Amino acid sequence: MLKRLDNRQDAGFGAEGEAKLKGLGKSLKLEALKRAFGQRVVLDGLSLDVPAGQFVAIVGRSGVGKSTLMRLIVGLDQPEAGQVVIDGKPVRGLQDSVRLLFQDARLLPWQSVLSNVGIARAPGWRETALEALREVGLADRANDWPAVLSGGQRQRVALARVLVGRPSVLLLDEPFGALDALTRVEMHELLESLWLERRFTTLLITHDVAEAVALADRVVVIKNGRLAFDVDVSAERPRDRTDPELAALQARILKEV
Ligand SMILES: Nc1ncnc2c1ncn2[C@@H]1O[C@H](COP(=O)(O)OP(=O)(O)OP(=O)(O)O)[C@@H](O)[C@H]1O
Ligand SMILES: [Mg+2]
Repeated sequence: MLKRLDNRQDAGFGAEGEAKLKGLGKSLKLEALKRAFGQRVVLDGLSLDVPAGQFVAIVGRSGVGKSTLMRLIVGLDQPEAGQVVIDGKPVRGLQDSVRLLFQDARLLPWQSVLSNVGIARAPGWRETALEALREVGLADRANDWPAVLSGGQRQRVALARVLVGRPSVLLLDEPFGALDALTRVEMHELLESLWLERRFTTLLITHDVAEAVALADRVVVIKNGRLAFDVDVSAERPRDRTDPELAALQARILKEV
Protein backbone atom coordinates (compact mmCIF):
# COMPACT_ATOMS: atom_id res chain seq x y z
CA MET A 1 0.00 0.00 0.00
CA LEU A 2 1.68 3.24 1.10
CA LYS A 3 5.44 2.90 1.03
CA ARG A 4 6.13 6.43 2.12
CA LEU A 5 8.17 5.71 5.23
CA ASP A 6 10.18 2.92 3.58
CA ASN A 7 11.20 5.27 0.81
CA ARG A 8 12.47 8.04 3.04
CA GLN A 9 16.11 7.00 2.67
CA ASP A 10 15.85 7.36 -1.11
CA ALA A 11 14.58 10.90 -0.73
CA GLY A 12 17.98 11.97 0.54
CA PHE A 13 16.76 13.14 3.92
CA GLY A 14 19.58 12.53 6.41
CA ALA A 15 18.98 12.68 10.16
CA GLU A 16 19.56 16.43 9.81
CA GLY A 17 16.90 16.82 7.13
CA GLU A 18 14.46 14.89 9.28
CA ALA A 19 15.11 17.16 12.25
CA LYS A 20 14.33 20.23 10.15
CA LEU A 21 10.95 18.80 9.21
CA LYS A 22 9.84 18.22 12.79
CA GLY A 23 7.67 20.67 14.65
CA LEU A 24 6.62 22.74 11.66
CA GLY A 25 3.42 23.92 13.31
CA LYS A 26 2.79 27.49 14.38
CA SER A 27 0.11 28.73 16.75
CA LEU A 28 -3.09 29.99 15.13
CA LYS A 29 -5.42 32.42 16.80
CA LEU A 30 -8.75 33.51 15.35
CA GLU A 31 -9.93 36.64 17.06
CA ALA A 32 -13.62 37.59 16.84
CA LEU A 33 -13.89 36.99 13.10
CA LYS A 34 -16.90 38.47 11.41
CA ARG A 35 -18.03 37.92 7.84
CA ALA A 36 -21.42 38.68 6.34
CA PHE A 37 -22.73 38.37 2.79
CA GLY A 38 -25.35 41.11 2.37
CA GLN A 39 -27.80 40.72 5.23
CA ARG A 40 -26.65 37.22 6.05
CA VAL A 41 -24.18 37.17 8.92
CA VAL A 42 -22.20 33.96 8.52
CA LEU A 43 -19.39 34.36 11.04
CA ASP A 44 -20.40 36.44 14.02
CA GLY A 45 -17.33 37.03 16.14
CA LEU A 46 -15.82 33.56 15.93
CA SER A 47 -12.77 33.01 18.11
CA LEU A 48 -10.52 29.98 18.35
CA ASP A 49 -7.09 29.52 19.87
CA VAL A 50 -5.03 26.66 18.45
CA PRO A 51 -1.62 25.86 19.95
CA ALA A 52 1.24 25.06 17.55
CA GLY A 53 0.98 21.56 16.13
CA GLN A 54 -2.54 20.79 17.38
CA PHE A 55 -4.93 18.83 15.16
CA VAL A 56 -8.43 20.32 15.34
CA ALA A 57 -11.51 18.96 13.59
CA ILE A 58 -14.29 21.42 12.77
CA VAL A 59 -17.82 20.17 12.39
CA GLY A 60 -21.00 22.06 11.69
CA ARG A 61 -24.09 21.93 9.55
CA SER A 62 -24.00 22.66 5.87
CA GLY A 63 -23.95 26.41 5.21
CA VAL A 64 -22.80 27.29 8.73
CA GLY A 65 -19.67 29.03 7.39
CA LYS A 66 -16.88 26.44 7.59
CA SER A 67 -15.49 27.04 4.10
CA THR A 68 -15.90 30.78 4.59
CA LEU A 69 -13.75 30.46 7.71
CA MET A 70 -11.06 28.54 5.79
CA ARG A 71 -10.97 31.23 3.10
CA LEU A 72 -10.45 33.89 5.77
CA ILE A 73 -7.61 31.96 7.41
CA VAL A 74 -5.81 31.25 4.15
CA GLY A 75 -6.23 34.88 3.06
CA LEU A 76 -8.46 34.36 0.02
CA ASP A 77 -11.08 36.54 1.72
CA GLN A 78 -10.95 39.25 4.40
CA PRO A 79 -13.08 39.52 7.57
CA GLU A 80 -15.20 42.59 8.21
CA ALA A 81 -13.94 42.56 11.77
CA GLY A 82 -11.50 40.55 13.81
CA GLN A 83 -8.18 39.09 12.77
CA VAL A 84 -6.14 35.97 12.12
CA VAL A 85 -2.95 35.73 14.17
CA ILE A 86 -0.25 33.23 13.28
CA ASP A 87 2.73 32.70 15.56
CA GLY A 88 1.74 35.85 17.44
CA LYS A 89 1.58 38.07 14.35
CA PRO A 90 -1.63 39.33 12.72
CA VAL A 91 -1.72 38.27 9.06
CA ARG A 92 -3.55 39.59 6.00
CA GLY A 93 -3.64 38.11 2.53
CA LEU A 94 -2.10 34.86 1.30
CA GLN A 95 0.66 33.34 3.42
CA ASP A 96 3.20 30.82 2.17
CA SER A 97 3.04 28.99 5.47
CA VAL A 98 -0.73 28.40 5.34
CA ARG A 99 -2.11 25.95 2.77
CA LEU A 100 -5.64 24.82 1.98
CA LEU A 101 -6.71 21.47 0.56
CA PHE A 102 -10.19 21.36 -1.00
CA GLN A 103 -12.65 18.51 -1.34
CA ASP A 104 -11.91 18.15 -5.05
CA ALA A 105 -8.28 17.80 -6.05
CA ARG A 106 -8.37 20.73 -8.55
CA LEU A 107 -5.44 19.44 -10.61
CA LEU A 108 -4.56 21.00 -13.95
CA PRO A 109 -5.47 18.34 -16.53
CA TRP A 110 -2.88 19.53 -19.07
CA GLN A 111 0.02 19.22 -16.62
CA SER A 112 1.72 16.03 -15.45
CA VAL A 113 1.31 14.86 -11.87
CA LEU A 114 4.83 16.14 -11.08
CA SER A 115 4.12 19.59 -12.57
CA ASN A 116 0.86 19.80 -10.66
CA VAL A 117 2.73 19.27 -7.40
CA GLY A 118 5.56 21.64 -8.31
CA ILE A 119 3.19 24.35 -9.44
CA ALA A 120 5.19 27.17 -7.80
CA ARG A 121 8.31 26.32 -9.85
CA ALA A 122 10.77 27.46 -7.20
CA PRO A 123 14.41 26.54 -7.92
CA GLY A 124 14.89 22.79 -7.53
CA TRP A 125 11.13 22.28 -7.82
CA ARG A 126 11.36 18.90 -9.58
CA GLU A 127 13.24 17.28 -6.72
CA THR A 128 11.00 18.78 -4.01
CA ALA A 129 7.86 17.85 -5.94
CA LEU A 130 9.11 14.29 -6.36
CA GLU A 131 9.92 14.16 -2.66
CA ALA A 132 6.37 15.25 -1.81
CA LEU A 133 4.97 12.62 -4.19
CA ARG A 134 7.12 10.02 -2.47
CA GLU A 135 5.61 11.04 0.84
CA VAL A 136 2.12 10.32 -0.39
CA GLY A 137 3.25 7.05 -2.03
CA LEU A 138 2.89 8.23 -5.65
CA ALA A 139 6.43 8.89 -6.88
CA ASP A 140 5.95 6.24 -9.57
CA ARG A 141 3.06 8.24 -11.08
CA ALA A 142 5.02 11.49 -11.46
CA ASN A 143 4.85 11.49 -15.26
CA ASP A 144 1.22 10.45 -15.60
CA TRP A 145 -1.64 12.79 -16.49
CA PRO A 146 -4.11 13.47 -13.66
CA ALA A 147 -6.90 11.96 -15.79
CA VAL A 148 -5.50 8.42 -15.49
CA LEU A 149 -5.45 8.49 -11.68
CA SER A 150 -8.20 7.29 -9.36
CA GLY A 151 -10.09 9.81 -7.20
CA GLY A 152 -8.07 8.82 -4.14
CA GLN A 153 -4.78 9.11 -6.02
CA ARG A 154 -5.75 12.55 -7.30
CA GLN A 155 -6.48 13.64 -3.77
CA ARG A 156 -3.06 12.33 -2.70
CA VAL A 157 -1.48 14.44 -5.45
CA ALA A 158 -3.40 17.46 -4.14
CA LEU A 159 -2.10 16.61 -0.65
CA ALA A 160 1.47 16.44 -2.02
CA ARG A 161 0.90 19.86 -3.60
CA VAL A 162 -0.04 21.46 -0.28
CA LEU A 163 2.78 19.66 1.56
CA VAL A 164 5.47 20.70 -0.89
CA GLY A 165 5.76 24.18 0.65
CA ARG A 166 6.18 22.64 4.14
CA PRO A 167 3.19 24.50 5.59
CA SER A 168 3.02 25.51 9.25
CA VAL A 169 -0.75 25.55 9.14
CA LEU A 170 -2.65 23.02 7.05
CA LEU A 171 -6.34 23.61 6.34
CA LEU A 172 -8.36 20.70 5.01
CA ASP A 173 -11.89 21.42 3.75
CA GLU A 174 -13.75 18.09 3.56
CA PRO A 175 -10.78 16.53 1.76
CA PHE A 176 -12.01 12.95 1.92
CA GLY A 177 -15.74 13.48 1.45
CA ALA A 178 -15.83 12.21 -2.11
CA LEU A 179 -13.78 9.07 -1.48
CA ASP A 180 -15.01 5.53 -0.83
CA ALA A 181 -14.78 4.25 2.75
CA LEU A 182 -11.61 2.18 2.32
CA THR A 183 -9.72 4.89 0.47
CA ARG A 184 -10.86 7.31 3.13
CA VAL A 185 -9.33 5.17 5.88
CA GLU A 186 -6.08 4.95 3.87
CA MET A 187 -6.06 8.74 3.55
CA HIS A 188 -6.65 9.07 7.30
CA GLU A 189 -3.61 6.88 7.99
CA LEU A 190 -1.51 8.88 5.57
CA LEU A 191 -2.57 12.23 6.99
CA GLU A 192 -2.07 11.06 10.58
CA SER A 193 1.42 9.72 9.89
CA LEU A 194 2.44 12.92 8.09
CA TRP A 195 1.07 15.00 10.94
CA LEU A 196 2.82 12.87 13.57
CA GLU A 197 6.06 13.41 11.69
CA ARG A 198 5.76 17.12 10.89
CA ARG A 199 3.34 18.43 13.48
CA PHE A 200 1.89 21.13 11.26
CA THR A 201 -1.04 22.85 12.94
CA THR A 202 -4.09 21.28 11.33
CA LEU A 203 -7.73 22.29 10.90
CA LEU A 204 -9.86 19.58 9.31
CA ILE A 205 -13.42 20.33 8.28
CA THR A 206 -15.53 17.22 8.16
CA HIS A 207 -19.16 16.14 8.17
CA ASP A 208 -18.04 12.79 9.48
CA VAL A 209 -17.90 12.88 13.28
CA ALA A 210 -16.28 9.42 13.34
CA GLU A 211 -13.47 10.84 11.19
CA ALA A 212 -13.19 13.83 13.55
CA VAL A 213 -12.73 11.74 16.70
CA ALA A 214 -10.46 9.23 14.94
CA LEU A 215 -7.98 11.89 13.82
CA ALA A 216 -8.18 15.05 15.90
CA ASP A 217 -6.79 16.15 19.29
CA ARG A 218 -9.80 18.37 19.64
CA VAL A 219 -13.20 18.73 17.99
CA VAL A 220 -15.04 22.04 17.74
CA VAL A 221 -18.57 22.69 16.55
CA ILE A 222 -19.56 25.89 14.74
CA LYS A 223 -23.13 27.08 15.14
CA ASN A 224 -24.75 30.46 14.62
CA GLY A 225 -21.48 31.98 13.48
CA ARG A 226 -19.48 31.04 16.54
CA LEU A 227 -17.87 28.17 18.39
CA ALA A 228 -20.67 26.30 20.10
CA PHE A 229 -18.78 23.31 21.49
CA ASP A 230 -15.15 22.44 22.08
CA VAL A 231 -13.93 19.07 23.32
CA ASP A 232 -10.54 17.35 23.63
CA VAL A 233 -10.08 13.84 22.29
CA SER A 234 -7.63 12.24 24.66
CA ALA A 235 -7.63 8.66 23.27
CA GLU A 236 -4.12 7.41 22.49
CA ARG A 237 -2.87 6.93 18.95
CA PRO A 238 -3.09 4.82 16.93
CA ARG A 239 -6.78 4.91 17.81
CA ASP A 240 -9.05 1.96 17.90
CA ARG A 241 -12.11 3.07 15.94
CA THR A 242 -14.28 0.54 17.74
CA ASP A 243 -13.41 2.07 21.14
CA PRO A 244 -16.75 2.62 22.97
CA GLU A 245 -15.40 5.86 24.50
CA LEU A 246 -14.91 7.30 21.02
CA ALA A 247 -18.43 6.22 20.10
CA ALA A 248 -19.80 7.96 23.20
CA LEU A 249 -17.84 11.10 22.33
CA GLN A 250 -19.23 10.99 18.79
CA ALA A 251 -22.78 10.86 20.14
CA ARG A 252 -22.05 13.83 22.40
CA ILE A 253 -20.67 15.89 19.53
CA LEU A 254 -23.59 15.03 17.24
CA LYS A 255 -25.98 16.44 19.81
CA GLU A 256 -24.21 19.78 19.59
CA VAL A 257 -24.14 20.08 15.79
N1 LIG B 1 -19.19 34.58 -1.95
C1 LIG B 1 -20.36 34.46 -1.33
N2 LIG B 1 -21.39 35.28 -1.62
C2 LIG B 1 -22.56 35.16 -0.97
N3 LIG B 1 -22.82 34.24 -0.04
C3 LIG B 1 -21.83 33.39 0.28
C4 LIG B 1 -20.56 33.46 -0.35
N4 LIG B 1 -19.78 32.47 0.19
C5 LIG B 1 -20.54 31.85 1.08
N5 LIG B 1 -21.77 32.40 1.16
C6 LIG B 1 -22.86 31.97 2.06
O1 LIG B 1 -22.31 31.82 3.35
C7 LIG B 1 -22.89 30.72 4.01
C8 LIG B 1 -21.80 29.78 4.46
O2 LIG B 1 -21.19 29.15 3.36
P1 LIG B 1 -19.99 28.14 3.50
O3 LIG B 1 -19.60 27.70 2.14
O4 LIG B 1 -18.95 28.75 4.35
O5 LIG B 1 -20.69 26.96 4.32
P2 LIG B 1 -20.09 25.55 4.79
O6 LIG B 1 -20.24 25.50 6.27
O7 LIG B 1 -18.74 25.36 4.22
O8 LIG B 1 -21.15 24.53 4.14
P3 LIG B 1 -20.91 23.05 3.52
O9 LIG B 1 -20.80 22.15 4.71
O10 LIG B 1 -22.14 22.81 2.75
O11 LIG B 1 -19.67 23.09 2.68
C9 LIG B 1 -23.88 30.11 3.03
O12 LIG B 1 -25.15 30.57 3.33
C10 LIG B 1 -23.42 30.64 1.69
O13 LIG B 1 -24.48 30.77 0.79
MG1 LIG C 1 -17.96 24.06 2.80
